[in-house]
Amino acid sequence: MKTKIFTMSNQHRDKDSLQEAGEILRRGGLVAFPTETVYGLGGDALNRESSRKIYAAKGRPSDNPLIVHICRLEDMDALVRQVTPEARAVAEAFWPGPLTLILPKSDLVPYETTGGLDTVAIRFPSHPVARQLIDCAGGYVAAPSANLSGKPSPTVAKYVIQDMDGRVDAIIDGGEVGIGLESTIIDMTVQPPQILRPGYVTRQMLQQVLGQVDVDATILSNESGQAPKAPGMKYRHYAPQGEMCIVAGDQEQVSAYINEQISRDKAQGERVGVICTDETAGTYRDAVIKNAGSRGDEESIARHLYTILREFDDEQVTRIYSEDFAPEGLGQAIMNRLLKAAGHKRIEL
Ligand code: TXA
Ligand code: MG
Repeated sequence: MKTKIFTMSNQHRDKDSLQEAGEILRRGGLVAFPTETVYGLGGDALNRESSRKIYAAKGRPSDNPLIVHICRLEDMDALVRQVTPEARAVAEAFWPGPLTLILPKSDLVPYETTGGLDTVAIRFPSHPVARQLIDCAGGYVAAPSANLSGKPSPTVAKYVIQDMDGRVDAIIDGGEVGIGLESTIIDMTVQPPQILRPGYVTRQMLQQVLGQVDVDATILSNESGQAPKAPGMKYRHYAPQGEMCIVAGDQEQVSAYINEQISRDKAQGERVGVICTDETAGTYRDAVIKNAGSRGDEESIARHLYTILREFDDEQVTRIYSEDFAPEGLGQAIMNRLLKAAGHKRIEL
């Protein structure tokens, strides 16, 4: 399949290209597009054949449900059996934006889209290109992240093209995304509502609207003995090719420890990468050093994380050491992704 590439920005949206991409989706084709979180791999959410194609293009197990993206708050109503007052309140508070709600699905949504579940994940993104595309496509676009299954989600079009060229009908290159980590997922079918995947919208923010909010115990630990409630969270997502370890402790000790590991690993022929911050970037020697940004600016760390993991793959890094972050606020989402990338390997000095 020849993949068509459209290029545009939020400020300069190309109406004709968006119409054309919308047409492709209406006809059952696949179009990758930018959102404010990560790039998505879109298909018509109400067309079972499109959902099958999405799974095939990603190489993704078909028991892993897709998120249905909408571009108007009221379009949620047709997708669900009933919109509870809590669901309405949380949608009004955070949409359009990086939040996905799990609700009981209506008959309109095919089981191919929900991976066989009776619930549906719904998100109304804020990204102007995404919103206009969804509108042109008829209002309901199923979209997982636009990476091959098992790779970090793409935050720039370059990595969408790397994974999806030849597998989809079109890719919209809209530049770098703003947030860099996937949306927060909250299950609204349980009481109290439960966060299944942490993201930019934090537990504290959700609690201001919903009162008590629980967090799936598997988010930061793999020792809870439970299976994650979001089927996709059980897979070893976000994994770079290099073996990765998170190192926690006093900053100086962490730098000293990682430098020792660098020397040792290099002597054994490994190519070593380090994920660090503005505060520590100068303390590491003789490795592929990636600075994710200042510790005081977690948004920067979130935005750069997946690109850094991808760059390590590009540069054939075989061992990765990452600094640790406090799992509070946005740090919870950062640590969730880091721990998954590291297969939960974390040492405390
Ligand atoms: O930010 C995002 O959410 C991006 C952009 C493209 O919108 N999308 C995204 O989709 O991250 P994906 O497919 O990579 O991740 C969706 C996650 C998976 O872990 C999946 O198992 C979970 O949502 N999920 C979807 N429907 C669900 C449902 N009905 N119940 C529980 N989990 C669900
Ligand atoms: Mg994904």
